[in-house]
Amino acid sequence: MQPTVIAPSILSADFARLGEEVDNVLKAGADWVHFDVMDNHYVPNLTIGPLVCEALRKHGVAAPIDVHLMVEPVDRIIPDFAKAGATDISFHPEASRHVHRTIQLIKSEGCRAGLVLNPATSLDVLDYVIEDLDMVLLMSVNPGFGGQSFIDSTLRKIEQVRGRIDATGKAIRLEVDGGVKPDNIAAIAKAGADTFVAGSAIFGHADYRKVIMQMRDAVSSVR
Ligand code: DX5
Ligand code: ZN
Repeated sequence: MQPTVIAPSILSADFARLGEEVDNVLKAGADWVHFDVMDNHYVPNLTIGPLVCEALRKHGVAAPIDVHLMVEPVDRIIPDFAKAGATDISFHPEASRHVHRTIQLIKSEGCRAGLVLNPATSLDVLDYVIEDLDMVLLMSVNPGFGGQSFIDSTLRKIEQVRGRIDATGKAIRLEVDGGVKPDNIAAIAKAGADTFVAGSAIFGHADYRKVIMQMRDAVSSVR
């Protein structure tokens, strides 16, 4: 079993004080930094790129940076993120012409590779690539914005992906992103997730440590 990872999405952080926000959330017990990249093309919003990733590394952030690419096309920007200090890079299959090639590209750049499935994306895309992945990321909201509500059909999907991952016998993470909160994280963990992204639930709370501890306790009650 993979150790539990809590990955705050900096999409809901105060961008004017980003370095300090990341330091604070890591000091409060977060494991990874979830870094949402949006291009106003694949998704209807625009966020941050490799320069900001590099700036966090120069600021002294040592934790894994989990880059979630919501951009199209994806391949051009992957080496830039690897150079900027990304440790994990995930992408949406709809945004890549050649999904297998993109996975190999991420790995050849020395990063762990993840494939992201939108709420309506079928698990079929995993059929011939799951063994090459380090992570499957299930979106539990439609990508593009923080602060949306968890889509309940994701729970069934998590169970199905958990079965597929276990069948490979490989150490592949199962990450869930969107609407994850202290009051639903236990159900998400019980369904089989091990890696939890939370943006508004953490950064919208005055006490990061308290909410991360609540989440961790809820997860450890079921896994
Ligand atoms: C949505 C992003 C998520 C989002 C999560 O496109 O991928 O990472 O920021 O935010 P919350 O936890 O507020 O749903
Ligand atoms: Zn994300």
